[in-house]
Amino acid sequence: MDNSRKFNGVDYKNTFAQRISAMHKLVGQVLSAQICNGDHILDIGGGPGMGARIIDEMGIKATVTNIEPSTTINDVPDLLSVEYISLQISLKEALDTRMPYSADCILMVSSAHEIALCNNLGSMENKKMFFHDLDSFIRKNLVPGGKMIIGFPNYSKMRPWQR
Ligand SMILES: C[S@@+](CC[C@H](N)C(=O)[O-])C[C@H]1O[C@@H](n2cnc3c(N)ncnc32)[C@H](O)[C@@H]1O
Repeated sequence: MDNSRKFNGVDYKNTFAQRISAMHKLVGQVLSAQICNGDHILDIGGGPGMGARIIDEMGIKATVTNIEPSTTINDVPDLLSVEYISLQISLKEALDTRMPYSADCILMVSSAHEIALCNNLGSMENKKMFFHDLDSFIRKNLVPGGKMIIGFPNYSKMRPWQR
């Protein structure tokens, strides 16, 4: 299966996004200390503009470009402070596509695993190829001194054994 199509036709916001809403809150907390008005963000694998939604909820006037190959990108978020650009392409396609700007911040929330799987190789090779592509994307599209924020779904601040 082409992994980039896994979420095609899925009401992502009302299904997966609800399950990982605790992680989205954590990402929001991290972002609030790292980005400010006027920032330009590239959200890799943002589904239905989840990065834009999180930043908009904080009232930050940023520009967010969503790089998302599946049809979830057609679920365009209703935003107040964020300017939103959607590009229906994969990370690999984005490597050969001119981005609308150099980013102050690259965001990748809960999408690293899916993107790596798209390489359709063994698990080590998938990871190697993923990091190679991510490194190329960062070199091309992140301003010097820019930030990269990655969210993983199995991370939670309040794991039971940490309480
Ligand atoms: C679990 S969802 C996370 C969506 C969103 N970032 C969030 O936090 O809710 C993973 C996303 O990665 C996207 N994706 C899969 N393969 C991709 C690729 N090769 N390049 C970019 N995004 C990809 C999927 O379509 C899906 O929207």
